[in-house]
Amino acid sequence: MDSGLGFCLFVLLRIILLATTALSHNLEADLFQDLMKDYNKNVRPMENSGDVTKVHIKMTLTNLISLNEKEEALTTCVWIEMEWCDYRLRWDQMPRSALYGNITSQLRMPSQSLWLPDVILENNVDGQFEVALYCNALVSPDGCVYWLPPAIYRSACTITVNYFPFDWQNCTMVFRSQTYSANEIELVLKQEDNYTLEWVDIDPEAFTENGEWAIKHRPAKKLINPQYTKDDLEYQEVVFFLIIQRKPLFYIINIISPCVLFSSLGLLVYYLPAKAGGQKCFMSIATLLGQTVFVFLIAKKVPETSQAVPLIGKYLMFVMSVTTMVVMNCVIVLNVSQRTPNTHKMTDKVRKILLNTLPRLLRMQMQPWTPEQDIVSEVGNGHAASRNYVYVPHYRRRSSMTLIMKAEEYMLKTSRSELMFKRLRERNGLIKSVLDKLHNGLEGGTTEHLCASLANASVDLKQCVASCKHIAVTAKQKNVFQNENEEWFLVARVIDRACFIVMALVYWIGTVAIFLTGHFNKAPLSPFPGDPKTYLPPTNNLTESGTATEYLG
Ligand SMILES: *[C@@H]1O[C@H](CO)[C@@H](O)[C@H](O)[C@H]1NC(C)=O
Ligand SMILES: *[C@@H]1O[C@H](CO)[C@@H](O)[C@H](O)[C@H]1NC(C)=O
Ligand SMILES: *[C@@H]1O[C@H](CO)[C@@H](O)[C@H](O)[C@H]1NC(C)=O
Ligand SMILES: *[C@@H]1O[C@H](CO)[C@@H](O)[C@H](O)[C@H]1NC(C)=O
Repeated sequence: MDSGLGFCLFVLLRIILLATTALSHNLEADLFQDLMKDYNKNVRPMENSGDVTKVHIKMTLTNLISLNEKEEALTTCVWIEMEWCDYRLRWDQMPRSALYGNITSQLRMPSQSLWLPDVILENNVDGQFEVALYCNALVSPDGCVYWLPPAIYRSACTITVNYFPFDWQNCTMVFRSQTYSANEIELVLKQEDNYTLEWVDIDPEAFTENGEWAIKHRPAKKLINPQYTKDDLEYQEVVFFLIIQRKPLFYIINIISPCVLFSSLGLLVYYLPAKAGGQKCFMSIATLLGQTVFVFLIAKKVPETSQAVPLIGKYLMFVMSVTTMVVMNCVIVLNVSQRTPNTHKMTDKVRKILLNTLPRLLRMQMQPWTPEQDIVSEVGNGHAASRNYVYVPHYRRRSSMTLIMKAEEYMLKTSRSELMFKRLRERNGLIKSVLDKLHNGLEGGTTEHLCASLANASVDLKQCVASCKHIAVTAKQKNVFQNENEEWFLVARVIDRACFIVMALVYWIGTVAIFLTGHFNKAPLSPFPGDPKTYLPPTNNLTESGTATEYLG
């Protein structure tokens, strides 16, 4: 049993020995415990009274997630790099260096057990002031702490809507210490390779490009607000700017081209003949309704501000006014084309301008109206007599009109009595007998006999002549009426053509002008007006700068 007890004791001793050697060999654990002993993370590291802790800041952008125009919020995924030195954590000086001098690498320590400088995003919009993950901090032997927490920030960004969707935006991310004033800590931009990093860092490997926004400038600045004293928290801040330009292709494809094409269709209304009547109006009003849909689409996208009108809104207003004018035009043209001589009188001045001058100017294919004095109607001494011209309507009706005119000429030339006798001779027996008598040369009867017969027939003859006259006058009047009706149609057609040309010019010039102003709205060449400095990494390395610009678009 002795040997058994001795064996047990031996095993126990071995275990204790192993444990102690393991403990003594884990220097880092010892160091950690040593550092945390008497460490108060709520107290700022101040070796001598009056010391100011310097906090170096650098921001690395990994993803520009989105810019919400409506909420005016920029969402970014960043790494906030902070560095400061805490004298309580150093082990390269006596007495700690004697014990832990062999540890030259950095020590990983949970950030929540260390003093933190309390730097937060001041202009956030969702109450998330802090970083997303309290990851470990790296502590160097000289006590300097390197902390690189990731963060997803939603920062306020005032949207300038004037040139939407050809706009560029100037967004800022303001970092400030929440509790320490400039007398206690000093915020500075990080230095690397003798350069102050006055820009937002973008690592080409980690960066994912945004589909909608291209980053044009990304300066960083430490700002001193002189209106505050050093005791105020607002006195110092580190600001990162992101000047981004929208890539407008999405809006060109989805909103602008449909709208332009749709609205240009509205101009085709002018090619519908006036006889199409209401269809002209229906078509242009349908266009107007379609444009209202686009207005709603745009209103959903831009912030509800009354300070400025976005470019696309201006364009929509412009096309809507053009379409409204087209509708008004259609109504007027319909009115003109339906006029009759009974309701409206057309003066020669109107005829001269609208049926002669304008068609020639517009190179329309129609026979221009010319005033003619020569053919004066003998028959009509009523309405027709006042007309001292012959109007030749345009080619489509020419055949029927010439026929009518031929008939008229025939009527004028053939003596009236001849025309009448031709017909009456057969019908009226009485007259026939008289005529026969006349024809036969008054052989059988006396002159008195003939006179009596003629006297008998004269009433009928007079009546007959009067009715013939009446028929001729009515025919002539009807013809004149039709002519003037036709003229109103032609006037409507000329008005249509003139308005089409004017509207098409206005529409295309306006469209091109509005979108050209958008096209030339580019972000300025330097991030701060009047300051030629670009706030970019020095480009002495060509390959590096090449990849950088590639990513920045
Ligand atoms: C440091 O390492 C050297 C060699 O590895 C060793 O001789 C020395 O004792 C170590 N010092 C401490 C303090 O552990
Ligand atoms: C930084 O500047 C110092 C002195 O001006 C120089 O010796 C050193 O090489 C520079 N370092 C780099 C990375 O340029
Ligand atoms: C961006 O805004 C800041 C102030 O918020 C201003 O100083 C700067 O000039 C602006 N940049 C441009 C390009 O307008
Ligand atoms: C350019 O950058 C590459 C790696 O980034 C480096 O190896 C090279 O030395 C640099 N060249 C110059 C001239 O700085």
